[in-house]
Amino acid sequence: MTLTQTPAWHDLAEHANVIKSWHLSRLFAQDEQRGQRDQLAACGITVNVSRQRMLPETWQLLYRLAEQQDLSTSISALFSGHAINHTEGRAALHTALRAEQSDAHDATIWQAVQQQLANMQLLVDKIRAGQWRGFSGRAITDVVNLGVGGSDLGPNLVVSALQQQKNTAIGIHYLSSMDGAKTAALLNKLNPHTTLFVFASKTFTTIDTLANAQTAIEWLVAHGAPKALAYQQHFVGVSANPRKMSEFGIHPEHQLHFWEWVGGRYSLWSTIGFTIAIAVGMPGFRALLQGAHAMDVHFRTATWSDNMPVRLALATVWNRNFLGIHGKAILPYDARLALLPAYLTQLIMESNGKSVDRNGRAVDYATCPIVWGEVGPNAQHAFYQLLHQGTEAVACDFIAPITRPDIEAEPDEATRSALHYQHQLALANLLAQSTVLMLGDAALETPPTDAHKHYAGNQPSNTILLNQLDAKTLGALIALYEHQTFVEAVIWNINPFDQWGVELGKQIALKTLQALQTGASSGFDQATVALIEALRNAG
Ligand code: F6P
Repeated sequence: MTLTQTPAWHDLAEHANVIKSWHLSRLFAQDEQRGQRDQLAACGITVNVSRQRMLPETWQLLYRLAEQQDLSTSISALFSGHAINHTEGRAALHTALRAEQSDAHDATIWQAVQQQLANMQLLVDKIRAGQWRGFSGRAITDVVNLGVGGSDLGPNLVVSALQQQKNTAIGIHYLSSMDGAKTAALLNKLNPHTTLFVFASKTFTTIDTLANAQTAIEWLVAHGAPKALAYQQHFVGVSANPRKMSEFGIHPEHQLHFWEWVGGRYSLWSTIGFTIAIAVGMPGFRALLQGAHAMDVHFRTATWSDNMPVRLALATVWNRNFLGIHGKAILPYDARLALLPAYLTQLIMESNGKSVDRNGRAVDYATCPIVWGEVGPNAQHAFYQLLHQGTEAVACDFIAPITRPDIEAEPDEATRSALHYQHQLALANLLAQSTVLMLGDAALETPPTDAHKHYAGNQPSNTILLNQLDAKTLGALIALYEHQTFVEAVIWNINPFDQWGVELGKQIALKTLQALQTGASSGFDQATVALIEALRNAG
């Protein structure tokens, strides 16, 4: 029996036939409790899901679907280290990276994690104290993380979100793209005597990162670094592949490890978070882990109706499979979270962009939506037109901090008051936009007569409020999305922890590089042959 033939799915489909044409304005008009009732709070986060196109009965049917898909068993399997990434024969134990000793599922793993945190702390403290010296004996002033995907997006997001908690003068930079365009621009601004590179790669075979690392070595040597010192004093390696780190030339004492059971896009909690710890210190990094751990505990223990990741995931399933909504927009109303949409596109789409179920059968239902996003206030001036008046239904996540201690820390009263106004302005816009998306014309006293000024409304959204944007709450927010993504995968019966879809392009690119360099393009399709010719002729 496929998922779409199961009783819970069938009941949801029948229910959807009845209510899918109901407008959110109607749902709110007939139920005065829903705003309060569908609001949950845990781990410093408040989530309001009342703006979903659902009735209380819809939630009950979705909980039945979760039961039918044996969600509790899958959650236990996740936390207890079962090889739930079955296509790679691995566990997905990112939660072990932030477990406390009292609730760790395996004492040996817990010890190994603590050991790596201790190793990381040694290097972090040395760099932050100015005791790590470059090839000419000068202290490090800049650290450049070379990594891509999960070895870039998570640390980059966290360092950028916690920019006000950064408590070192050391500059932290991220280079990911293989094209080298940003590499050259950044290196031109840095001092080779005082720059340290972090080669961050789970596999240590990713050509994008190898290419950037190679350029970094050339740059160091070109500026006077003896080759051996360029590798030994200007590189830290972070990987699950120590052999490759050594082969590359990274000094054993400058290697930080993690494990195959940490998925790349779930790895910011591991030593991949090295640059986070340099930016905010180990206490800041540990606070991030604590926040994520608090969300883990919430996810494991809260009933379905109180469980934030479960409610958010079930809303996605409802929107995707029963209302036919293809898009999901991530809209943070705080510029410090500008990288959250990019981070979540990898987390969600690389995890759940699958069309084959766990048994290898093609699915006959939709899975992951198309996720994109932007800082909300900027997006208002860009793509909200489509949200309000386009032909696509889109589910939105509105995200903002409730308080801004960073403003209170401003020494000057006039600046504080101006910034306080800006915070209120952003919150008001978040509320206004989500209301208009929900109600459409019904938000107006007099509906417009001009069709061009008509707002259909009925766009569902979640509102996610953080008590404040600190390390702990940010950890909880990221873990909230991790678990939400996992629950969606359980319902869809897909494996969220592999990513076979990204492999073929990498292989073909190697062959293509040869053709581009030599001109031997036989065996390629006609479009590629023509383009290779154009590129070679131009060069
Ligand atoms: O190509 C996709 C991917 O494998 C991601 O899953 C991963 O986060 C990224 O590449 C980087 O991989 P690595 O950390 O091994 O360099």
